[in-house]
Amino acid sequence: MTTCCIFGLGYIGLPTAAVLTRAGHRVIGVDINAQVVDTVNQGQIHIVEPDLDQAVADAVACGALSAQLTPVTADVFVIAVPTPFRSGIDGIPQPNTDYVLEVARAVAPVLQPGNLVLLESTSPVGTTEQVARVIEELSGLNTDQLNIAYCPERVLPGRILQELVSNDRVIGGLTPVAAEAGKAFYATFCKGELLTTSAYTAELVKLTENSFRDVNIAFANELSLVCDRLGINVRELIRLANHHPRVNVLQPGCGVGGHCIAVDPWFIAAEAPDCTPLIQTARRVNDGKSRWVIQQVQHRAAALEDQLDRPARIGCLGLAFKPDVDDLRESPALHITTELLVAGLEVLACEPNLHEHSTIKLHTLEQVLADADLLMFLVAHSPFRNLDLTGRKVFDLCGVSEPI
Ligand SMILES: NC(=O)c1ccc[n+]([C@@H]2O[C@H](COP(=O)([O-])OP(=O)(O)OC[C@H]3O[C@@H](n4cnc5c(N)ncnc54)[C@H](O)[C@@H]3O)[C@@H](O)[C@H]2O)c1
Repeated sequence: MTTCCIFGLGYIGLPTAAVLTRAGHRVIGVDINAQVVDTVNQGQIHIVEPDLDQAVADAVACGALSAQLTPVTADVFVIAVPTPFRSGIDGIPQPNTDYVLEVARAVAPVLQPGNLVLLESTSPVGTTEQVARVIEELSGLNTDQLNIAYCPERVLPGRILQELVSNDRVIGGLTPVAAEAGKAFYATFCKGELLTTSAYTAELVKLTENSFRDVNIAFANELSLVCDRLGINVRELIRLANHHPRVNVLQPGCGVGGHCIAVDPWFIAAEAPDCTPLIQTARRVNDGKSRWVIQQVQHRAAALEDQLDRPARIGCLGLAFKPDVDDLRESPALHITTELLVAGLEVLACEPNLHEHSTIKLHTLEQVLADADLLMFLVAHSPFRNLDLTGRKVFDLCGVSEPI
């Protein structure tokens, strides 16, 4: 049995911990948040992800999973802590690898020769090498004595437990031996293809995947503005265009959110600002779509106010960054709703995946349907499908009111 120490028990680390225990590993989860540690040790979870509650309850009950605040000796170390961005230089947000480097400092004292260290956090190119440098400075162990590799995550929230097992994975070693050691470890629980490369390439692979999606969505969002101008249904347009065997336009929305697609393209742009006009423009087009939505709603609210002779009540349906999750990180729906509240509009917000929000009063779907003058669908959550919207004023940014 291999002992694994996983740093960061969030959307990636906790499901990974559960999957590893199912594959027969002993897992110690390390998190700096004491509440997270307590919750996991009680066999419970603090995030919304299908079937994760049972997987964690089972793993804790049989003694295969426990959590703590500090690292312990182990065979394998997996780093899955946040990599957000911070305010930019020349308008380009910069990657923040502080959490990753903090883990490198914390793990160094417990490392032993032969250990495998895997960085899974989405990271700018060169981060794995930086981790190795910090570890060597503090422990004296170099990349011949430790196997250090980068292996990005590409799971889809809502299907994380399945995709952790079924997805193909890219494993970038700081040395070829480290890549092979990483491959052997992932082979214990992954059924997808395991592809080895250098750490630099693997880091850029992950950023490339998310930038590809961001650029494609920016194209769809740009088309949505053109279609609005020309009175054409953008979703019908894209559906028809995608019948071309070599065309695959993604769907427009109220912006682009999440801590991946809305963040990672900046990690490439920060690295090479002069070579990335397309990537940077895509980010700005997608952020601009949210500003366009805010302006549109303000116009529509003003027109309604004239008709009703009272302030219009705007139903903001969905706050999360994507359908059927509770994750609000970089959510354009949350940003739009907040901006409308700041602008003084009467907003009835509904997020069926959350019980409460610290600054926004939440309403049930029934309350919003009963009281709102304009229904603005921001996120295509399942409960928003198949509603009877006859006679209602609808501003659908996510296609949820249209037949699938
Ligand atoms: N969530 C996704 O769908 C997804 C997909 C692909 C890649 N990623 C990447 O995976 C990484 C982790 O993302 P996430 O969504 O799991 O984040 P998260 O915020 O859900 O969880 C991160 C956890 O790390 C903990 N943490 C922070 N600093 C720590 C430290 N020094 N030591 C131990 N724990 C620490 C936090 O308390 C938190 O519980 C990020 O780089 C993200 O970009 C996420």
